[in-house]
Amino acid sequence: MDNETRAIMHGLNPFAPGAGRPPKDLAGREHELEIMDRIISRTKAGYTSRGLVYSGLRGMGKTVLLLRMRDMVINRGLLAIRMEATTDSGHDYAAIFEGISKAVLKQRDEGLRDRLLAVLRHIDSISANIGIIQATLKPGAEDETPSSDSFRLEMMVEELCTELKHDGSGLFLFIDEFQEMPAELMGTIIGLQHAMGQDGLPFYVIAAGLPNLPGVLTKSRSYAERLFEYRKIGRLPENETRDCYVKTISRVSRFEDAALDRLVELSQGYPYFIQAYGSAAFEAADSSPIPRSAVGAGEPVARAALDNGLYESRWQRARPSEREYMRAMASVGKDTCSSAEVAEKLHRPVPEVARARKGIIEAGLAYSPERGFIAFTVPGMADYIRRTGPLSEQTYDESEP
Ligand SMILES: Nc1ncnc2c1ncn2[C@@H]1O[C@H](COP(=O)(O)OP(=O)(O)O)[C@@H](O)[C@H]1O
Ligand SMILES: [Mg+2]
Repeated sequence: MDNETRAIMHGLNPFAPGAGRPPKDLAGREHELEIMDRIISRTKAGYTSRGLVYSGLRGMGKTVLLLRMRDMVINRGLLAIRMEATTDSGHDYAAIFEGISKAVLKQRDEGLRDRLLAVLRHIDSISANIGIIQATLKPGAEDETPSSDSFRLEMMVEELCTELKHDGSGLFLFIDEFQEMPAELMGTIIGLQHAMGQDGLPFYVIAAGLPNLPGVLTKSRSYAERLFEYRKIGRLPENETRDCYVKTISRVSRFEDAALDRLVELSQGYPYFIQAYGSAAFEAADSSPIPRSAVGAGEPVARAALDNGLYESRWQRARPSEREYMRAMASVGKDTCSSAEVAEKLHRPVPEVARARKGIIEAGLAYSPERGFIAFTVPGMADYIRRTGPLSEQTYDESEP
């Protein structure tokens, strides 16, 4: 290939490795998009549906799926808000209120927009009094006591949705990393989904998070089990993975069969890997169709990019005791290991290492698939630890007491 062709080809790398980067071909999620399409159509026809909760490991494509669904909602003229939950409820409330205002302002139908703006003004005018009313109604300030913010949110959603229903529209709240959200706000949102459903009003929570998310929701409100359709987002089957490579590359080049076979094998259907190995092979290619040798040349580059983007920073965020715990998990050599097995590797009784276990779960590095068991939230983390043997003691973080 001459230099010019190479330059053009490299400028056109169609792969998109990286958290939240929309892929050129969103493979294997047709069914999810159909579900969303059905909810939108039902909303327009005046019917309500359950909300949706997606759970899965990091890098499986939850964020990009939510982004695509948000676009579907907006393209069909309904209201969508998207937020990433944090552990700070002040931040999360602000994100929701701001998102609602923006969604209302963007509403294309002028008549409806004016009615929605009137609702927002009305809520604003009474907001000052909400705190006072609240204090009279529900004295005591415990952790889970609804705040004046929650009261304001409830009134706002109810009034907006009443207007939206008249016009066959609806309000969709997309929440990424939902498991992070503080309990009070999470409870408020689940309660809202429940109340709106009972009143036949078009409000939908479409959420995504780690595999522990369904459990967190049920713990927050037991009826959460019935409110949502729970769906798992996992690896793509082999044929979908192959298809994804073929479609992604099709506008700029193609892979030789042996190259394709190797990419399918390397990526194991894990969406983040699909993009990383594809991207590196593309960059390493100097002929089209892309040969098997380019995949081989790209492999170490892709692995370094994955170490860098997925694993290293997570390892560095952990304290030395937590790193020891993760190293022990990796040495057990199974996807899911029992707390007892890990403690045994550490030559310590289970309660003595419970704090490190709790630490890595709270940091989102691991989760508990069932009582007494633990697993990494990022596929390949155990392999990274075994392969590179990162240091436990090196301090990246001064907060170790
Ligand atoms: N269905 C898919 N097909 C192809 N690539 C995907 C798919 N879903 C996600 N990806 C890619 O995987 C990577 C991780 O996606 P992301 O949505 O951030 O995952 P998660 O939110 O589950 O951690 C991104 O590079 C994205 O382009
Ligand atoms: Mg994500």
